[in-house]
Amino acid sequence: MNMSKTTNILQEEVDKRRTFAIISHPDAGKTTLTEKLLLFGGAIRLAGTVKARKASKHATSDWMEIEKQRGISVTSSVMQFDYLGHRINILDTPGHQDFSEDTYRTLTAADSAVMLIDVAKGVEAQTIKLFQVCAKRGIPIFTFINKLDREGQSPFDLMEELERVLGIRSVPMNWPIGMGRELCGVYDRMKNQVELFQGDDHSKINVQKVDSYEDPVIREMAGEFLHDQLKQELELLDVAGDPFDLEKVLKGELTPVFFGSAVNNFGVQTFLENFLELAPKPEPRKSTEGVVEPTNEKFSGYVFKIQANMNPAHRDRVAFLRIVSGKFERGMSVKHVRVGKEIKLSQPQQFLAQDRDIVQEAYPGDIIGLFDPGIFRIGDSLSQGSEIVFDELPTFSPEIFSKVTAKNALKHKQYQKGIDQLTEEGTIQVFRTASFDETILGVVGQLQFEVFEHRMKAEYGVEVQLQRMPYQFARWIIDDKIDPSKFRINSTLVKDKKDNYVVLFENEYAMRTAIEKNPTAKFLETAP
Ligand code: G4P
Repeated sequence: MNMSKTTNILQEEVDKRRTFAIISHPDAGKTTLTEKLLLFGGAIRLAGTVKARKASKHATSDWMEIEKQRGISVTSSVMQFDYLGHRINILDTPGHQDFSEDTYRTLTAADSAVMLIDVAKGVEAQTIKLFQVCAKRGIPIFTFINKLDREGQSPFDLMEELERVLGIRSVPMNWPIGMGRELCGVYDRMKNQVELFQGDDHSKINVQKVDSYEDPVIREMAGEFLHDQLKQELELLDVAGDPFDLEKVLKGELTPVFFGSAVNNFGVQTFLENFLELAPKPEPRKSTEGVVEPTNEKFSGYVFKIQANMNPAHRDRVAFLRIVSGKFERGMSVKHVRVGKEIKLSQPQQFLAQDRDIVQEAYPGDIIGLFDPGIFRIGDSLSQGSEIVFDELPTFSPEIFSKVTAKNALKHKQYQKGIDQLTEEGTIQVFRTASFDETILGVVGQLQFEVFEHRMKAEYGVEVQLQRMPYQFARWIIDDKIDPSKFRINSTLVKDKKDNYVVLFENEYAMRTAIEKNPTAKFLETAP
């Protein structure tokens, strides 16, 4: 095949990129792992910032006032580093319990996910939710079981838990030799090597090639007891475990499992190297023009997140764009497909925590931040020379609802403007009751209400009153004829922004009953 020079360069740039998100429950060690990964890439300055963040309990992505007050990271950010010829983009997802729809949406910009699990706590609530979003897209999921230096569950129990709770089979890439205080190292099943801790503080790691896990060298280093245990467990795994199958991994049907300890930097490097080898490069995306390959020379991308006031000195917004195809060059003109206009991308930013560098060029898989004077919406497509529209990003079902009113009715105009703009950013969803024209807000995490209240006041000068409502589930309903009187008990019928009918339910029982009683209707978890 005779490829042009541009295509060749594009192919090379695509091949070396890996864009992924780390999914975990708070406290599993995501910050610690991210910091270690960045250290391998030489982004030491940032790692320093991350440390400082821990000390002051401030997040690196603390752009918003409320984040500072609460000392947590509300919004997701993007980090980029180079390692062994690869360019790696990590999409950060908020670690706090009060995560938002934004977190879910960020996952749509990732090509794979790293699922971080605490060896003692196993699969936790937030991990399950984030896993499900990834599993729906069928992206590969790599598991890192962290805190091996502490007593935890047995590796077999953890594998069983992955299957029982998440429905995914797993294949251990390495296996712990001892655990907690007894932890002596790991055995790398793929490379036939042992990685052993040395010294009491586990600060030095000795890597040694061996013939197999039977090798007497391991016995010498780890002692009889641990070696016997290792042999027994690995024999069992060889017979009863799933073999490694890259095709299944790439389809998200099998998760490679790595054991380690992020805080001790133990197993992190091997994990990173294996991950880079196995994880997919930037994937094509579906669009109205068919599948768009990353190597398509025409630039295209879509906005998956909009964030306001990252720099409090400016009241700007930043639209995060995932590049799908072609090369991005600073100052280039592209078509903003929804509004049908050419725009110039002159102030793109790349994100490395608080440093917002101006990007000169970027490639598929990269995320760039575009200065947004209010022209972008979640899901907007930008493209060079065509009308590509990427598949709409899913609207996730909110789980917490509040009725909202302006405390001062005279501020109605600003109030409406605030609601419109904040819903466009996509962290809150707005519904209207059919009968009383009341406004109900729905969010995925409670914190979003606080953010909403704060921003309405700070940015629009409107004090709002939020009254919590008892609903827990939202389902978009599709039927020929919808009868509101059917949704009165433990439920209510509302309309979303696009006038779709949505039923809010107080509990699962009410939802199940409604589904049974309305056999002709379809109840959807995401907006049609
Ligand atoms: P998160 O972002 O997922 O919420 O977790 P984070 O990295 O902040 O880690 C949560 C806690 O777990 C931290 O302790 C961190 O030091 C600890 N941790 C992370 N990896 C490991 C590990 O491999 N082994 C052990 N034993 N602990 C680990 P902390 O006490 O909350 O904070 P700090 O005072 O240590 O900074």
